[in-house]
Amino acid sequence: MAREVTHDATGPTRIDPDDHDGDIYVCACGLSDNKPFCDGSHNGTADEEEGVRYKYENDDDEEPRHPIDAIEYADD
Ligand code: FES
Repeated sequence: MAREVTHDATGPTRIDPDDHDGDIYVCACGLSDNKPFCDGSHNGTADEEEGVRYKYENDDDEEPRHPIDAIEYADD
């Protein structure tokens, strides 16, 4: 089974669990290869245009980001 998930965040969520350990950065953009942790991949969203919906796919190393018109759902 496959899922399409939409993310609006362009950076991680910082968690400060206690005074002894360092901060933890959890991926909120959906692009990290090291989930649940941020790996910096959110930097690829920096030049996204306002109002444009993008789909990121790992099948194209030169252009993993594609603008799309809308998400189309198949009937059950
Ligand atoms: S927030 Fe997703 S990689 Fe940083």
